[in-house]
Amino acid sequence: MSSIKNMSLAEEGKKKIAWAESRMPVLMKIQADFQKTLPFKGIRIGACLHVTKETAVLMKTLKTGGAAVALCGSNPLSTQDDVAAALAAQGIEVFASHGIDNEGYYRNLNAVLDTKPGITMDDGADLITEIHSKRKELLGVVKGGTEETTTGVIRFRAMQKEGKLKFPVIAVNDARCKNMFDNYYGTGQSALDGIIRSTNILLAGKTLVVAGYGHCGSGVAAMAKGMGAHVIVTEVDPVKALAAYYDGHGVMSMDDASALGDVFVTVTGCKAVIVERHLRAMRDGAIISNAGHFDVEIDVKRLKEIASARTLKAGLDEFVIDGKRIYLLGEGRLVNLACAEGHPSEVMDQSFSLQALAAKYINENKLEAGVHRIPKDVDDMVAAMKLEALRVKIDALTPEQERYLSSWNEGT
Ligand code: ADE
Repeated sequence: MSSIKNMSLAEEGKKKIAWAESRMPVLMKIQADFQKTLPFKGIRIGACLHVTKETAVLMKTLKTGGAAVALCGSNPLSTQDDVAAALAAQGIEVFASHGIDNEGYYRNLNAVLDTKPGITMDDGADLITEIHSKRKELLGVVKGGTEETTTGVIRFRAMQKEGKLKFPVIAVNDARCKNMFDNYYGTGQSALDGIIRSTNILLAGKTLVVAGYGHCGSGVAAMAKGMGAHVIVTEVDPVKALAAYYDGHGVMSMDDASALGDVFVTVTGCKAVIVERHLRAMRDGAIISNAGHFDVEIDVKRLKEIASARTLKAGLDEFVIDGKRIYLLGEGRLVNLACAEGHPSEVMDQSFSLQALAAKYINENKLEAGVHRIPKDVDDMVAAMKLEALRVKIDALTPEQERYLSSWNEGT
């Protein structure tokens, strides 16, 4: 039985889901195909994802494909209660409510595991790490899992390195159709959306500090630059730092950037990126936010210890340190989901089409334990389907070109 906040929100959630469906043509096509072929007949799928309208379209697609689906939220602040209600009303087991505490979060996660899923779908690796640490009885039940995000894939690779990962996981995040779009355009736009929705500040003319210049951080930097912000990038990887420099951004250490920024966004996937000395160096009025998966990038615990605080509105807290005001967005959790609606449906169309096809691939193949890439032809197929939906035609290699590309004897 589902555990959600308010069933009377179901009608609102249904309308939101219909909106997402109208912007997710590839996933809807896969859904129509699944309706005919029922690839998940008799299969239980357990998912721990952000409970958004886009996730709802994925859950409905899996159910249409014959799966019994159970879903919990992958972040306490990302659950959209109306969407959770709409899904529960449509026969999908949902264990999620916005603002849930840590204990409730793990209760919900374990409720999904109680359904004994044959396939798991993670966004951040919490389902699978829970199985490997506290629910080992499920190790023989789960055939494989999928992972949506960079942080989750990093955790699984660490497990694999220690010989601890006991079943196959498909790193959906590593597909080009995912990270070149969802991470770059999706995080880029939705992180700024979260900042703007919670503060309504003008970005033009502001100095925006982006910590981390991976697929996500470079997207945030590009979009902020496009809106007229002066962008400063902080990085630990020299190649990425150099790329940020050539992209026209200021590049420096966080120690130097902390006194210059009007707005800060951490997108590193690492911890302790903004700590006490940075907080103390910031200008009066600085806005700090995080778009990395976990709320470990800004030392919020220390901020609470050294500052007096008041909440201006949900997702916008004012802290005063040494007479200077600092504004924290979304409690330091994913600003794009805590303060806005997450990535736009258009990019989630690609990511979640890959998720649906990755689950099908796990079901139809016997993979070894460990982290796997999604097959290139599946990645290519999703791109081709998206182009078709967008009515964009591209060239194909001629036989002569194919021969040229697979030969070595034509030179100068
Ligand atoms: N991650 C980022 N944006 C998302 C969205 N809209 N739905 C589900 N997961 C997400």
